[in-house]
Amino acid sequence: MKLLEPIKVKDTEFKNRVMMSPMCMYSVEKQDGVATDFHYVHYVTRAIGGVGYIMLESTAVLPNGRISYEDLGLWDDKHVAPLKKIVDAVHKYGAKIGVQISHAGRKSRTDNIVSSTDVPFSDKNLTPKMLDEEGIKEIVKAFGQAARRANEAGFDSIELHGAHGYLIAQFISDVTNQRTDKYKDGTLFLKEIIDEVLLYFPKEKILQIRVSGYEYHDLGMTPYDWASILNTFKDKIDIVNVSSGGILPTPVKDYPGYQLPYAKIIKEETGLVTIGGGQIDDPLLAEAAILDGTMDMAYFGRKLLKEPYFIFQLDDQLLPKQYTRARGLISK
Ligand SMILES: Cc1cc2nc3c(=O)[nH]c(=O)nc-3n(C[C@H](O)[C@H](O)[C@H](O)COP(=O)(O)O)c2cc1C
Repeated sequence: MKLLEPIKVKDTEFKNRVMMSPMCMYSVEKQDGVATDFHYVHYVTRAIGGVGYIMLESTAVLPNGRISYEDLGLWDDKHVAPLKKIVDAVHKYGAKIGVQISHAGRKSRTDNIVSSTDVPFSDKNLTPKMLDEEGIKEIVKAFGQAARRANEAGFDSIELHGAHGYLIAQFISDVTNQRTDKYKDGTLFLKEIIDEVLLYFPKEKILQIRVSGYEYHDLGMTPYDWASILNTFKDKIDIVNVSSGGILPTPVKDYPGYQLPYAKIIKEETGLVTIGGGQIDDPLLAEAAILDGTMDMAYFGRKLLKEPYFIFQLDDQLLPKQYTRARGLISK
């Protein structure tokens, strides 16, 4: 099946088109951003399970950019060694691995939070301080330093978290950007981040971005809005990962494949390598969307939490050598 065929992006060959979606595990033990044994076992298990591409969960570039105090971080050099251990083991089992670097802005549940705006996310969240130019510069620099550390840890790619109403999205979206300064155009913030990241992350590696292809709001982003922004960065960004929602705490009606139409439009309009997904429980849905040109790769989130070895149910010839005696067993 095409889902299990390799795909090459720049110099990186993914052995199949299954990406483990970034998922916060809220499992840092000392509120210090340092990866733990849990993270090692969790990610390496999916590599042994045959996943071609693993995306590490949202990893904060600054302490007040964490979604929660239990998030991973890349704001200090001490974060590199435990992440490198994960990266090396994931590579050993044949998968590629990226890290999603992020700043949660007004959605952070830490303290001293900042944003493009001084309007809180909801009445349960703190009121953010509206960033001035100096504060913006500090965050842009932090993205660059996180990128340097990601490279030192050996990651194959960086995913900028531009989705789900976090800080990049807060600048990009008209729902959360009513500024009057030069950052009224939120793409400037994104451009500065991309340029800073590329000072420290080698051009041969992959830079990708996760976007909310649709924000479910009249003022919010549409797939066409994102496509036109991405078209201005096509010489810098290699892959787009399409999700949706998150700019406001409004519930979204989801169903299997509900975000795939946004991925399709973004792929058609940009020609970028596109990863789509959302509520994909049946891998045949991902297979169909790859075959019909909606996307190039599929992300699986919750399915991989429940079934880290689902790939072997698609083809038990892929079982690692230690597990070959399971071949031929009917598993469902
Ligand atoms: C426990 C959990 C944590 C998540 N954390 C992140 C995250 O860190 N970054 C992100 O972009 N999306 C995050 N998401 C969203 C997933 O990456 C994915 O887009 C979403 O779960 C839909 O895909 P699925 O239906 O295959 O799970 C998270 C989802 C779950 C269930």
